[in-house]
Amino acid sequence: MKKNLGPKLGIYPTPVVVVGTFDGAGKPNLATLAWTGICCSEPPMVQISVRKSRHTHAAIAAQKVFSVNIPSTKYVAETDYCGIASGRDADKFRVANLTPVRGEVLDVPLVLEFPVSMECRLVHTLELGSHDMFVGEIVATWVEGGIVSETKVDAQKIDPLAFMLNGEYRGVSDLLALAFNAGKKLIEKS
Ligand SMILES: Cc1cc2nc3c(=O)[nH]c(=O)nc-3n(C[C@H](O)[C@H](O)[C@H](O)COP(=O)(O)O)c2cc1C
Repeated sequence: MKKNLGPKLGIYPTPVVVVGTFDGAGKPNLATLAWTGICCSEPPMVQISVRKSRHTHAAIAAQKVFSVNIPSTKYVAETDYCGIASGRDADKFRVANLTPVRGEVLDVPLVLEFPVSMECRLVHTLELGSHDMFVGEIVATWVEGGIVSETKVDAQKIDPLAFMLNGEYRGVSDLLALAFNAGKKLIEKS
């Protein structure tokens, strides 16, 4: 038996990304976001949903660009820190001992230590309620050399964080089956 909890968030887990921006004073800033996801394949796009009160919100609204960085599990403390301190009163790159690298295509700070970083150009803003959804077109995707051969990414080595809605960070590890494959046996049976 399921119990109806009413209108609640029910997607377990969500990804954890750290978004990079330059603020009005040109200082690089980071904010951890869990309301995020891929939202278009061609052209490649990602959505991030940000409260108006965030320092990051003003930066994206003004600059119209942002970076999306994927932390690996060993950076869980740095990631959490970027989600509890504001760039209004802290230099998060310095405190978290992370290195900002300017994007090659866009004027965005990328996190050198994280295995994946994307440069994104703002293409849509949707006011939803508590959050504004920023849709960014991904114009460059940087992946750490040790986990990519040609264009094939060894996704397991990214070792990303998952955010459980109960407030826990968890890792993503077990390979269960191959997508677009595991369901074939049901087609064969039908
Ligand atoms: C795990 C986690 C997930 C978060 N997800 C979001 C989110 O999706 N949207 C948002 O606006 N804030 C989110 N936050 C809060 C911001 O990261 C936080 O308010 C941060 O201080 C904003 O930094 P800024 O003021 O420098 O932009 C999250 C925080 C944590 C720890």
